[in-house]
Amino acid sequence: MSEQVLFKNRRVDCRPASLADYRAGGGYEALTKAVRTMTPDEVIKVVMDSGLRGRGGAGFPTGRKWSFVRKDAPHPRYIQCNTDEMEPGTFKDRILVNTDPHLVIEGIVLCGYAVQADHGVFFIRPSYDADARLLERELEVAREAGLLGKNILGSDFSFDIDVHRSAGRYICGESSAQANAIMGKRPNPDKNSHMTDSGLWGLPTVVNNVETLASVPSILRNGVEWFQTLAASPTGDGTKLYSVSGEVAEPGCFELPGGTRLGDIIFGAAGGMLPGAEFKTCLPGGTSTSFVAREHLETPMDFDSMKKAGLSLGTGSVIVFDKNTCLVQATINILAYFARESCGWCTPCREGIPYMKHILERIEAGEAGERDVELLQRVADGMEHAYCGFAPGAAMPVHGLLKHFRDEVREHLDGRGCPFVGEGVAKPGLWTSLDRDETVPDEADSEGRDG
Ligand SMILES: Cc1cc2nc3c(=O)[nH]c(=O)nc-3n(C[C@H](O)[C@H](O)[C@H](O)COP(=O)(O)O)c2cc1C
Ligand code: SF4
Repeated sequence: MSEQVLFKNRRVDCRPASLADYRAGGGYEALTKAVRTMTPDEVIKVVMDSGLRGRGGAGFPTGRKWSFVRKDAPHPRYIQCNTDEMEPGTFKDRILVNTDPHLVIEGIVLCGYAVQADHGVFFIRPSYDADARLLERELEVAREAGLLGKNILGSDFSFDIDVHRSAGRYICGESSAQANAIMGKRPNPDKNSHMTDSGLWGLPTVVNNVETLASVPSILRNGVEWFQTLAASPTGDGTKLYSVSGEVAEPGCFELPGGTRLGDIIFGAAGGMLPGAEFKTCLPGGTSTSFVAREHLETPMDFDSMKKAGLSLGTGSVIVFDKNTCLVQATINILAYFARESCGWCTPCREGIPYMKHILERIEAGEAGERDVELLQRVADGMEHAYCGFAPGAAMPVHGLLKHFRDEVREHLDGRGCPFVGEGVAKPGLWTSLDRDETVPDEADSEGRDG
């Protein structure tokens, strides 16, 4: 097994690591070192030099983002730890929080120290309520141990963290929409300001993904050179959590060297296809990424290699499809989810996603012709004009379908309909409908929270 950094404390019985477990493996050494011997700028420089890139989907360099917070910026400053994770197929952040809560907490406090922030917020989706309660408990444990709150570890640095439960909408994962949700507003994205200048309550706010923040303590403890030896590809950075679902023998979340080949993730870590199933394609980074062609199994799963191959790494969450799955039907399923989750703010997304779904439903039923396929392509291209990254992401499976599986789409046209009917479409338990709502806890409903 490759070096386990983020899952170092993962246990067979799935119980979360306690503070004592975490400390036994070097936990909170990085924070001690930072607040006692390093300036905030030195912490930022180490993270920048490591080449760590954000794991929330866009791959933005983490140290660079932190450096955007101006030294003379007003206080209080905030850190949002993005624990929304509503991208279908993605379950790495939940496992990370549940495996080693203090690893994530230490990462947030280090980020807070680096930008001299005052307050952190875990923004967590409602179906992760058990994890929210775990975090609340462990935050209290950290406070009692002097690792959080006033004068952390006897230093001048004071910082605390709260847990904010989302009301459960995909768009709340987008950083500025998330800030609106935390402030009790309608969670529309806001592209008018940079979060590091003007985020929560108009004050500097750094937003990072759970996995990104959890990667920081070991970088500060072990150094940049050590971090750079971890990846499998020249453009990989550190280790990466890949969650794998769909028709594989051993679905799960695996920590592997960043830039591990897509084929090695599916046929190695995840045990290959289920008995009787044959690989057709996958979505390599959640449902906001494109279906891949077979040759992409050779591609290293890091941001740059995927981009070079015309793909995107997204969340690195691989959803695998069998040869008998109708990809038109699968794309309809995905678009039904995105149509429901659109915030409705801009026209290309609000109208375009249901329209793509409608065209695909006509294709699936055999009611469409070649001109409808061209129209579908044009509407998918138009998603680039939407206000935020949600709509271009939603269009990615459509782009992949039309680029790599156009022949399969054509088999449906001109009265023929779905060639896969009766051949294992939407196998129960494996590829079920995404178009169902989150289970929102009663208290979130009754308080009428907006996100
Ligand atoms: C529609 C949409 C949903 C998103 N959902 C998430 C999410 O659930 N978790 C996450 O970390 N980032 C999500 N992002 C990306 C965030 O906006 C932001 O870039 C990220 O949290 C920054 O963290 P990072 O630099 O550590 O990747 C989403 C972006 C968009 C456009
Ligand atoms: S693309 Fe437009 S409608 Fe869709 S989620 Fe973003 S702002 Fe809202």
